[in-house]
Amino acid sequence: MKIGVLSDIHIDGNAEMLSEGQKYVEIVAERARLEKVELLLIAGDISNDYITSLTFLHGLEEACACKVLFVPGNHDYWSKENGITDTKLIYEKFKKDSTSILENPYIVNDEWAVVGNSGWYDHSFGDSKFSKEEFAQMTYKERTWQDHYFVDWQMTNPEAHRWFYDKIEKDLQAVEGKNIILMTHIVTHPEFIVPMPNEMFEYFNAFIGSDEYDDLYRKYNIKVSVMGHVHYRKSLELNDITYICACLGNSNEWRTSDPVKELEASFVTLTI
Ligand SMILES: [Fe+2]
Repeated sequence: MKIGVLSDIHIDGNAEMLSEGQKYVEIVAERARLEKVELLLIAGDISNDYITSLTFLHGLEEACACKVLFVPGNHDYWSKENGITDTKLIYEKFKKDSTSILENPYIVNDEWAVVGNSGWYDHSFGDSKFSKEEFAQMTYKERTWQDHYFVDWQMTNPEAHRWFYDKIEKDLQAVEGKNIILMTHIVTHPEFIVPMPNEMFEYFNAFIGSDEYDDLYRKYNIKVSVMGHVHYRKSLELNDITYICACLGNSNEWRTSDPVKELEASFVTLTI
């Protein structure tokens, strides 16, 4: 079975790159059709509003004629258009959706399952010279990590990380014996954080992911690990695990001004 992987499409932020009549839902579906994928994994950050993201997902399933699985990214929880400030409520909306694997592992066949959720950051990838209190500010040199304004889990970031992580571990236990494709939005491996030296990201890597996933890689039969968030396009094979970060990213990070070319460059396929 051929599987497609993509994340961080940011259809609202990247809208100005489209030519007249062009739509992200159609060009992503076209890419999936060209690659003949039967299953498409989207690792979060479709847009800055959950309704926009859900509408996109439904359109995509219809247009690409393949199964689509999704975990929300931090931006999908923002509700910038609809102003919902209770992030758990948005989580519940995503959880009920047909594309969701939240607390709901997807059994591909007798051998494979897709498990995951957004995951959250616990500050562990930030430089240890900063204190817990400094990370809790989510602000450094007058720059603020925007989830501070648009996401409210009613708990701290390390607690939100724990909340998501425990759910993933429970789901991994439920499908034990199968080969696992783990899908998160946040970064689960230190090879995918912003490399040093980088003065701002000594601090802001704190909001990229968590180093605790190392335990899950050792304990469970994870063969493929899909993530997004950091806007890299990078795949890596380490200790028999394939790590994939297939971000379309923001247009100011693109090499061209053509969304079709950028999608082609970021879209990753694997065969199981
Ligand atoms: Fe993103």
